[in-house]
Amino acid sequence: MPELGVNIDHVATIRQARRTYEPDPVAAAVLCELAGADSITVHLREDRRHIQDRDVRILRETVATRLNLELAVAEEIVGIACEIRPDQATIVPEKREEITTEGGLDVAAHRAATERAIQRLKSAGIHVSLFLDPDPAQIELAAELGADAVELHTGQYALARGAAQNEQLVALVSAGKRIVELGMGLHAGHGLNYHNVTPVARIPHMHELNIGHSIISRAVLVGMERAVREMKHLVA
Ligand code: PXP
Repeated sequence: MPELGVNIDHVATIRQARRTYEPDPVAAAVLCELAGADSITVHLREDRRHIQDRDVRILRETVATRLNLELAVAEEIVGIACEIRPDQATIVPEKREEITTEGGLDVAAHRAATERAIQRLKSAGIHVSLFLDPDPAQIELAAELGADAVELHTGQYALARGAAQNEQLVALVSAGKRIVELGMGLHAGHGLNYHNVTPVARIPHMHELNIGHSIISRAVLVGMERAVREMKHLVA
């Protein structure tokens, strides 16, 4: 059974909309863990649009399972990661103008920077995963550069429908097989939700799924009635 990593970036997105103290991703992480999350994932973006440095530092102290930090190969962010030492670092591509991570890393195009980041993170004792499309050439290169794991980008699978979705699943299965043959851990994430997660969770040797948007979206709705009742009680 794969482990579930819950990405809590969007809790911070709501907080940053008001630049206030709530909701606190640190509190959200505790609740995720109580509900059975196997790890907590946050992305410290260069533009700090949601998760802040303070969040990562406190989460390092409070997360009782495993802390997975998503990051770009930017010198500053890699330096922060080496200092805070999450259990795992997942290297992702990052563009300021994007809404969310779009596509996997192009390790071939950024080979030197990726290799330097992997070496720095690994020498700080951090397990390193690379976020890649199910592209055989990128996967071979990840192994060559010493990555411990590959997180397969499931965004195309999540967007596709019918036969096209099945083709995407076949590509994920075969990429997964190669990742495991090369001795790396198999992870997957992006766009996974309550409707499309099961076939991905059943990919042989799947070790970790990282899911954010769909869980936070559902949390908002399943918590709405209670939140309104509590406020109604106060104003009554
Ligand atoms: N994995 C990686 C590498 C990501 O960048 C993201 C989005 O931050 C996720 C998983 C989670 O994606 P989603 O929010 O669509 O579940």
